[in-house]
Amino acid sequence: MQVELENIQPIIWRDDGLELLDQRLLPKEEKYIHLQDVKSVANAITDMVVRGAPAIGITAAYGVVLAARHRYQESIANWKKSIQDDLDILLDSRPTAINLFWAINRMKKVIEVLQDDPLVPLLNEAMAIHQKDILDNKSMGELGATFISSGSGVLTHCNAGALATGGYGTALGVIRSAWHHNKLRKIYADETRPWLQGARLTAWELLHDDIPVTLVAEGAVSALMSSGEVQWFVVGSDRIAANGDVANKIGTLAGAIQAKYHGVKVMVVAPTSTIDMAVASGTEIPIEHRGSDELLGLSGQLVAAAGCEGWNPVFDITPASLIDVIVTEKGVIESPNSVKIANLMHS
Ligand code: MRU
Repeated sequence: MQVELENIQPIIWRDDGLELLDQRLLPKEEKYIHLQDVKSVANAITDMVVRGAPAIGITAAYGVVLAARHRYQESIANWKKSIQDDLDILLDSRPTAINLFWAINRMKKVIEVLQDDPLVPLLNEAMAIHQKDILDNKSMGELGATFISSGSGVLTHCNAGALATGGYGTALGVIRSAWHHNKLRKIYADETRPWLQGARLTAWELLHDDIPVTLVAEGAVSALMSSGEVQWFVVGSDRIAANGDVANKIGTLAGAIQAKYHGVKVMVVAPTSTIDMAVASGTEIPIEHRGSDELLGLSGQLVAAAGCEGWNPVFDITPASLIDVIVTEKGVIESPNSVKIANLMHS
């Protein structure tokens, strides 16, 4: 099976391994790194070579393929047992995005029923996950765009685009679709400190597709919203709890509170693989904290006063009550709550 080619391809499977566009280097450099073993894949996820919930899941699925190839060559009799350590390494690579656990679980189910050489069936499964993600993003893009009136301004946070998924994007998928339908007057991206996913990645990817974008500092969001320039705050998600609470990039909660205050609508765009029915509410979602060096410095240079400490949670929880609409590939939920989420998941 071939994965349908997209304009921006963060993840490419080659016969001898996995290629990842190194997102730490964008927008200065467009460079792929080539990975042939599961540990390098797990490190690439931890170190943010690849990031964004669906992209992390897809990468991990290909990581399982590399692990199986190696373990099967090592021992035909024992590979199913020895691969468990590799799955654990992948599972430990980042804690918040549920798509990682979801994708590995899908690969595990294939492993359980395999009798012979695992390479082809596992590769087919990883490619199916990858391809379905792109198709789902396109349908979510169209669905989400129907909520946006002509002449609207939108603000997005972090990067929930082609770079964060198999291709096309979730929040940026909606923005792409709305743009192609000539509905958008203006697109704003906030910087998204400390990793600057907005400034480096969202701005790069929209401009790459000739879609104009205006960058704002996160401190300018209230001023922007109060000016009447934006009607929608559109974001992705790393995990959605069973009651509709949304974990996403740190700063999403602030953006949603500001949106509520200024009468701007909040749209969360995510595939159902991001919904975790095992967590009742956002308080149960594990929040990743990263090293304070990421906060205190910029491009490897210390910018904060030497000796200053840093607190660096990289996700926050936006309560369902602040969200106007959740867009998934299975349909849309307005004013999300537990009953509506359960109905969607069982539809
Ligand atoms: O730390 P990151 O860059 O992996 O965080 C990414 C986000 O928070 C995205 O908004 C989220 O994963 C949705 S991506 C379609």
